[in-house]
Amino acid sequence: MAKKVLVTGGAGYIGSHTVVELIKSGYDPVILDDYRNSDASVLKRLAQIIGKEPEHIVCDVCDQQMLEHIIETHSISGVIHFAAYKAVGESVENPLKYYSNNIAGLVSVLNVIKQNPEIPFVFSSSCTVYGEPEGLKEVDEKTAKSIPTSPYGYTKWLGEQIIEDLFLANKKARMMSLRYFNPIGAHESGLIGELPVGKPNNLLPFITQTAAGIQDKLFIFGQDYPTSDGTCVRDYIHVVDLAEAHVKAMDHLLSLQKGCHETVNVGTGKGTSVLELVRAFEKENNVELNYTFGPKRSGDVIEIYANVDYAFSLLGWRSTRDIKDAVRSAWKWEKSIRNIK
Ligand SMILES: NC(=O)c1ccc[n+]([C@@H]2O[C@H](COP(=O)([O-])OP(=O)(O)OC[C@H]3O[C@@H](n4cnc5c(N)ncnc54)[C@H](O)[C@@H]3O)[C@@H](O)[C@H]2O)c1
Repeated sequence: MAKKVLVTGGAGYIGSHTVVELIKSGYDPVILDDYRNSDASVLKRLAQIIGKEPEHIVCDVCDQQMLEHIIETHSISGVIHFAAYKAVGESVENPLKYYSNNIAGLVSVLNVIKQNPEIPFVFSSSCTVYGEPEGLKEVDEKTAKSIPTSPYGYTKWLGEQIIEDLFLANKKARMMSLRYFNPIGAHESGLIGELPVGKPNNLLPFITQTAAGIQDKLFIFGQDYPTSDGTCVRDYIHVVDLAEAHVKAMDHLLSLQKGCHETVNVGTGKGTSVLELVRAFEKENNVELNYTFGPKRSGDVIEIYANVDYAFSLLGWRSTRDIKDAVRSAWKWEKSIRNIK
């Protein structure tokens, strides 16, 4: 029988793509989400891709009693924990919102893992834990973590620490923190993708919304950074590659006989500048984008990308899609939700 994997936040951007990849790999995902930052219509869209609506439960992940009940009654074999808030700027304005959901939600899930240490656990961490490492552009898992620059960053930094502390006290638990770099793109079908609420915080949704006429203009913050073209450089990872990494992480944890807490970079290993992404979008989609340069933003890391050797040696995972695939799929998704031909 297919192993059931509880996917908290499974209706969201990365979660919904992971649900598809879990099914493709023979798992039976169970979505747990209360749609606070997503829409239940994703279930119908998922059904169009995978042939049926995935099992789904409306629940606040902070409700530990309910979680315990679900784990028991659904014979859950693994947990992937996406449910959290993710907007850096909002976390600065409203830090308690972030600490109460991201930290309390994680602790709630971990309490259940503590009671059921045989259930593998995967956590959505972020490259924000590295901050801006001095003199380094490429970071590996041994690169020291930096003091975060936002409450959101702290929730990932502290989240990893909480998992580590739980492991030190409960050596049987099998856990992995995946440090995502910059997820972009959408499923090739154009049926699921990133759906930001309000003004997008991330670059590619801002680009697609500008192309769709929802935003007037894209501002590129800074043009004289010491990079190849003066704009910031990031490691943009296609969301389907990222989803596949979660499946590999689950496969790996399930195969282990002993406990662990692994931290693993999930990126492409390649830096792409903001301007390169904008130009790739224009070229691949044959769309002219209204963009201009604005002042630098304080706190922006200049250039960072992942060393991905550990992901390959531990999980046998490597990204296979590039930014051309990402900008094409993101535009297909934006057009499908805006009814643009
Ligand atoms: N997208 C990125 O750029 C990025 C980068 C690094 C890390 N992450 C992390 O990855 C995870 C998923 O991100 P995403 O981009 O898919 O975000 P998303 O907002 O699209 O998805 C998160 C989902 O969790 C749900 N949710 C939030 N709090 C909940 C709660 N208390 N109970 C039940 N459901 C709840 C939301 O409704 C949403 O469906 C988050 O933890 C995020 O911090 C995202």
